[in-house]
This record gives sequence, C-alpha cells and structure tokens, in this order.
Amino acid sequence: MSTKEIIRQFDPVKDNLLNILHALQNSHPQNYLTEEALEETARYLKLTKAAVFGVAGYYSMFSLRPRGRFIVRVCISPVCEVMKIHALLPVIEEELGVSTGETTKNGLFTLETAECLGQCQEAPSMMINDKVYNNLSGERIREIFSEIRSQNS
Ligand code: FES
Repeated sequence: MSTKEIIRQFDPVKDNLLNILHALQNSHPQNYLTEEALEETARYLKLTKAAVFGVAGYYSMFSLRPRGRFIVRVCISPVCEVMKIHALLPVIEEELGVSTGETTKNGLFTLETAECLGQCQEAPSMMINDKVYNNLSGERIREIFSEIRSQNS
C-alpha cells in the first residue's frame, strides 16, 4: 500500500493524526516515519509541517530514523529495575551485538529502552514489536532471540 493509500484509510480530521502516524510507521519495513510521509500527512490533515513533525518528534514511540524490522523495547522502570533488568540489558546487548539505541547490521533488530510496559506483576519485561515477554532471564532471552532469528533467516 502506498503512503497516500495508508493515510486515506482515515478520515481527514486532526484527531486521527496519531493513528495515521502509527499506521505509516508500522507499514514501513524499517519501522520509521519518512519526511515524505509526514509531509503527506500534514497536507491531508491541513496541518502545518511543523505541527506534524513536532508530534512525531515528541512521542518516543515514533522514530524519524530507519530502524530494524523488530523493535526490542526493554522496560527500565522501577519494578523491572528491582527485578534486575539492569543485569539483563547487557545480556540482550551481547546477544544482539549492539548497544541500546542501535540497530543490528543485518537490519533485523533495534534495541531501545522503555518506560513501564504495564507488566509489573510479571517483571522483568520487554516487548518485541507488539509482543510482550515477561519473567525474563538470561536463558529465556537467548531462547527468544534464537526463535525469532530462526523464523526470519
Ligand atoms: S516496571 Fe516494567 S513492566 Fe512495569
């Protein structure tokens, strides 16, 4: 589907801005919002470019830079901290071969940190795209990535 077709699935009202940005980002193979997509959205909603770029830049869930096919979001909020996520983050970095904020060379994974994922009772937690993974341990982390790699090689 083209950028225009994605945008036109929504009514041209300002309240749809976040929904449109989500749809555009999710449809891009590199999981980000292109300048062209933001400009097209501004035209469609009759907003200024600055307003649309401002919203896209404000929310951490949106990216203006190319990212991996899988966005790994590791929760670093208090309950996950207590459950020792700080000891698991280096395991994830080592497993992926990148530091937080980076994308793997093969374009498969981008590693990010996130605020509470709403999974505190089963912390420590992370999300990979829309899927939540709880009760993480080093072994579980290696299993998760090995499974994703085997399904996407
Ligand atoms: S603090 Fe990590 S899921 Fe709530």
